Amino acid sequence: MENKITQTGTATMTIDGKSYDLPIMKGSMGAPGIDVRTLYKQTGHFTFDPGFTSTCSTESQITFIDGGEGQLLYRGYDIEQLAEQSTSLEVAYLLINGELPTKSEFETFENTITNHTMLHDKVESFFQGYRRDSHPMSMLCGTVGALSGFYHDDQHTTEDEARNVAIHRIIAKIPTLAARCYKYRVGQPHVYPQNDLSYAGNFLRMCFAVPAEPYEVNPIIERAMDKIFILHMDHEQNASTSTVRLAGSSGANPYACIAAGTACLWGPSHGGANEAALNMLKEIGTVDRIPEYIARAKDKNDPFRLMGFGHRVYKATDPRAKVMRRTTHEVLGELGITNPVLEVAMELEKIATSEEYFVKRGLYPNVDFYSGIVLSALGFPTDMFTVLFALARTTGWISQWNEMLEDPTQRIGRPRQLYSGATTRDFVPMDKR
Ligand code: SDX
Repeated sequence: MENKITQTGTATMTIDGKSYDLPIMKGSMGAPGIDVRTLYKQTGHFTFDPGFTSTCSTESQITFIDGGEGQLLYRGYDIEQLAEQSTSLEVAYLLINGELPTKSEFETFENTITNHTMLHDKVESFFQGYRRDSHPMSMLCGTVGALSGFYHDDQHTTEDEARNVAIHRIIAKIPTLAARCYKYRVGQPHVYPQNDLSYAGNFLRMCFAVPAEPYEVNPIIERAMDKIFILHMDHEQNASTSTVRLAGSSGANPYACIAAGTACLWGPSHGGANEAALNMLKEIGTVDRIPEYIARAKDKNDPFRLMGFGHRVYKATDPRAKVMRRTTHEVLGELGITNPVLEVAMELEKIATSEEYFVKRGLYPNVDFYSGIVLSALGFPTDMFTVLFALARTTGWISQWNEMLEDPTQRIGRPRQLYSGATTRDFVPMDKR
């Protein structure tokens, strides 16, 4: 990656009467940043920013978010255009390489991915250690990390070829692994990939085909699945992507880095929100109970939050939520499914986005608000939702991991702290305490 941020000004700060100048850096879009890389050396002071609400951890050229405008771009292309006009593998190529592929470039990429979809048969033994009712995310966390035991040749992340093999293997194998988690969870035999199917179609067949009868991929479900993969593929320096980058900055095995990101994504404040949002909508149950939950969400003494609402960056509706809402209506309509939970979701969105509490705080539906409804319509159980999120986000994680390793300025990530513990003191022997 060629560094392209440039200095556009200087920030001057005064500490104890002494002035210090720090460069103001700007990229191609978005807010500028004050470059504090020399701050401690110059001033003996750190910055303090728990949760990184005002901190850029890196330069990146992959994804751009404008939270105020509700804009999301992958390599400059608008997410709604990509979701409606592209495919998940074409977008994967775009995220990794920076440009949309020509026909021959795409065919080569698709062929490479298709021929890496199988898992080493010994991966199967890792599943046998799980209880049948283990959460599928616990299986995914464990087994994607276990892949590091099978592919040591990807360790040499300083070599382009080794990194490319790791990128292709991970993108190819994560659907097979995710489907395996589902099959183990429901007690059905593992279904091997079929090379004549699309990325989304192959995944659907590996999840829903059974040996007892033929399985045909439903094109409506295949298109919706592919769109959902695109919407979830990358999202700038979110918690799980930052986890992957931090793990990768030490030179850790790429599969171990993806396992770290998977673990972080699982939390209900992050990728686990899709499961939590649908459970919340089911718990609300009927439109007349919405006011009770709105009141709870506003009550500071109640830990309840509207799952699928709010976002660290978006202070307008998450553009992915708009596409997801449209896809939900399309899929339920085309499949002839009615779901009372959708009516609750639509009414909850209408009420919440007109309430001063939510509008003042910029709390709008995010990508997780509708995804549970459409994923249920596609046939997935609730505890598989975050696995699907992780499947799609793996492409973004590995793209960001690769960009970090190609960045000539990258070093091992090592934040500091403001220490407020006990000051220096001598040890006291037990008999004197
Ligand atoms: C994802 O970062 C990403 O890009 C993530 C993601 C991705 O693609 O990688 O977009 C995926 O994680 C989407 C978010 C999914 N999470 C949820 O839907 C869980 C519910 N949302 C919240 O937990 C919360 O909104 C967060 C975690 C998403 C954001 O938290 P922040 O930025 O730390 O915001 P905050 O907690 O400081 O909240 C600001 C205010 C607070 O009130 P005040 O102290 O100002 O009075 O808003 C309130 C919060 O209490 N608030 C909510 C709320 N979310 C925030 N109140 C009720 N319901 C909510 N959902």
